[in-house]
Amino acid sequence: MEAPGQVVVMATVLLWGVSPAAFRTLQTGFEEKYFDQWLDHFNFESYSNRTFPQRYLITDKFWKRGNGPIFFYTGNEGDVWNFAENCGFILELAGQQGALVVFAEHRYYGKSLPFGAASLQRENAGLLSVEQALADYAVLIAALKEQYGAQDAPVIAFGGSYGGMLSAYLRMKYPNVVDGALAASAPVLSVAGIGGSSQFFRDVTADFQNYNLACAQGVRDAFRQIQDLYSAGAYEEISRRMSTCEKLSSKEDIYQLFEFSRNAFTMIAMMDYPYKTDFMGHFPANPVKVGCELMLANKDLVRGLAALCGLFYNSTGTVPCFDIYKEYRKCADPTGCGTGSDADAWDYQACTEINLTFDSNNVTDMFPEIPFTEADRDSYCFRRWGVHPRPSWLDTSFWGSNLAAASNIVFSNGDLDPWAGGGIRKNLSSSLIAITISGGAHHLDLRASNPADPPSVREARLQEASLILDWVRSASASRKGPLGA
Ligand SMILES: *[C@@H]1O[C@H](CO)[C@@H](O)[C@H](O)[C@H]1NC(C)=O
Ligand SMILES: *[C@@H]1O[C@H](CO)[C@@H](O)[C@H](O)[C@H]1NC(C)=O
Ligand SMILES: *[C@@H]1O[C@H](CO)[C@@H](O)[C@H](O)[C@H]1NC(C)=O
Ligand SMILES: *[C@@H]1O[C@H](CO)[C@@H](O)[C@H](O)[C@H]1NC(C)=O
Ligand SMILES: *[C@@H]1O[C@H](CO)[C@@H](O)[C@H](O)[C@H]1NC(C)=O
Repeated sequence: MEAPGQVVVMATVLLWGVSPAAFRTLQTGFEEKYFDQWLDHFNFESYSNRTFPQRYLITDKFWKRGNGPIFFYTGNEGDVWNFAENCGFILELAGQQGALVVFAEHRYYGKSLPFGAASLQRENAGLLSVEQALADYAVLIAALKEQYGAQDAPVIAFGGSYGGMLSAYLRMKYPNVVDGALAASAPVLSVAGIGGSSQFFRDVTADFQNYNLACAQGVRDAFRQIQDLYSAGAYEEISRRMSTCEKLSSKEDIYQLFEFSRNAFTMIAMMDYPYKTDFMGHFPANPVKVGCELMLANKDLVRGLAALCGLFYNSTGTVPCFDIYKEYRKCADPTGCGTGSDADAWDYQACTEINLTFDSNNVTDMFPEIPFTEADRDSYCFRRWGVHPRPSWLDTSFWGSNLAAASNIVFSNGDLDPWAGGGIRKNLSSSLIAITISGGAHHLDLRASNPADPPSVREARLQEASLILDWVRSASASRKGPLGA
């Protein structure tokens, strides 16, 4: 679940003197603001009154003041602008339903750093938790309602991926604050340890295999050739054919190369959108197809594999060689933490509450066998952060698969998305709705409408819009009931 990198190239040359935030405001209509947020919601002693500036984006340009709802995006593991700029559907819906739109940044990510540059030092990391983040959102919503004179406005939470988990959790924990949630591509089951460790890379494999059997076979063969070259001690040859910057020289290096490569497949599968995107990297339309073509165009499969990896790691076409330790950082999330300080924060979350112990096994998937057991996770996390992951806490705190007591949540998933297999795929009640988007990658439904969209996602958005409108209407009606004004 990789945090998006800094992918927006700011046209500062064209707009001298305009700050990046002001430039983005001009482009998107969002104003960037900060809220004085409690440092610790759950302990009145440790940081008694202390607050930190939490960033959020807001636009009232669609808002029907007086009776329009609030659409609140529960920010995930990265700079909030990246989500605001890749969730055009929320703005389209706000236009239809007259909503005030807020995108809140998650504590410890982007610019919402409780202890500034020292936020991820061990003594400061402890306030990074799902529970604290949800409390931030609940408190922020109450404050914004007050500030905008919108005390009775219905609130709908939105989120994709980890943000999708948070939008569902926010509805579950604070049903007094949030009237419904659209949880797109939210792997609420797998992160709670339900579903098995081979699911993720099996489903990444399926994307390539379903596109073209020969592609998946080519990938297997390429990895086998590397494995054979390694067994023969031919490090030089592997390094040359895979275009690594440094000559590989150990088993650790080979495993790093395997994980570096596997991560390119993960990203390509997640971002397999039918049009070009600049989210979590720069991808062409249909990157699975493009990647397979690049790979199969090469007579040397190992070079083909390097070319496919380049689709993610060399999207600029200016990378002379792969610096495999710098471009892929091993962490507690084998699907990738990204790089930079957001990656550290995500690593910490994967070391505490969020279980991502996925492995590849070269049987149910096309990747080399790369185990990542509970014990591996535990020892890594203790070495890196001095913490032990706490078994089943998330399952207890956020209900695991027993969601029946919740209501008004849409769980949407695309069948191309490797995260879908860890999410809710069946309707659980008349108001816990699962929507499957066939031909959809990672939260495609949250993106702005596009002429290349498959019919399934257009249909899903209509269905989501209609459910949300129902929730908003019944929330408005109940607030005008006996206790209302
Ligand atoms: C704590 O906050 C309250 C209200 O915001 C304020 O009146 C009080 O002076 C603060 N106390 C300290 C020790 O900062
Ligand atoms: C974590 O998830 C894996 C894979 O789903 C599962 O086998 C394991 O029991 C889970 N561990 C905990 C501590 O929940
Ligand atoms: C990156 O792309 C450029 C342009 O296609 C190519 O010349 C270069 O070899 C690629 N780098 C790697 C490491 O494959
Ligand atoms: C994957 O398994 C096959 C069949 O057992 C084996 O030949 C191949 O070397 C394995 N690949 C890797 C990368 O270990
Ligand atoms: C869940 O119910 C909705 C109708 O409320 C339906 O459109 C959808 O297909 C159902 N989802 C599944 C996975 O059966």
